Amino acid sequence: MPCVSASWPRVPQEISVIGFDDIDMVSILASGPTLLPDVLRSKSRLLFALLTAAAIVSLLAAPTPSGVPGQPLLSGAQVDARVLAIIDRSCRDCHSEMTQYPWYAYVAPISWWIKRDVSQGRLHLNLSRWNEYSPVRKQRSLSEIANQVKDREMPLSEYILMHRDAQLSEGDVDAIFRWTQRERARLIAESQR
Ligand code: HEC
Repeated sequence: MPCVSASWPRVPQEISVIGFDDIDMVSILASGPTLLPDVLRSKSRLLFALLTAAAIVSLLAAPTPSGVPGQPLLSGAQVDARVLAIIDRSCRDCHSEMTQYPWYAYVAPISWWIKRDVSQGRLHLNLSRWNEYSPVRKQRSLSEIANQVKDREMPLSEYILMHRDAQLSEGDVDAIFRWTQRERARLIAESQR
């Protein structure tokens, strides 16, 4: 699997394990005893072709690691460790360059869906680029974050389904909300100085 860089080691291994096992079984079947009825053999050839096609499509759709990894979340903001930990757990994968892709992010068609969420997520709010945002943009984003968590719009429900620990407790929502208020007030005070 040459197109996956060394910084994402877990996933390609899993995929190759699954892929080769399946393909081995099928190719043994396909090339197996001529006693196998023709129907069965053509069925296993079809299955083999389908699996191969699925593997190729999945490889083409594999998410590409971000070009600027490792930037700390919310750099330049005043944020306490608790809130930062909540955001890291529940928002980072879609709203930063530090996305950690699960193995199924490499399997089409799920990969297309995840790719879209991550690129849309980064477009709306990129916590790895916080220090590049203008003060006005930061204030707007802080209000949006407050609204999204209060209304339970974020994190997206399909994400919570696969990442149970991303679910925000009442306490988490409260902590994020209070932080957005504090940080906004700080930015406003700063801009008036
Ligand atoms: C599974 C991916 C995913 C996760 C996890 C996630 N988001 Fe989002 N977020 C998105 C996408 C996609 C959008 C783009 C708009 C939409 O689809 O609603 C978005 C949009 C937003 C916006 C912009 C809303 C607007 O009005 O433009 C904010 C703010 C936001 N998310 C905050 C958060 C916060 C805070 C968390 C963590 C508590 C979080 N998101 C977790 C995917 C995600």
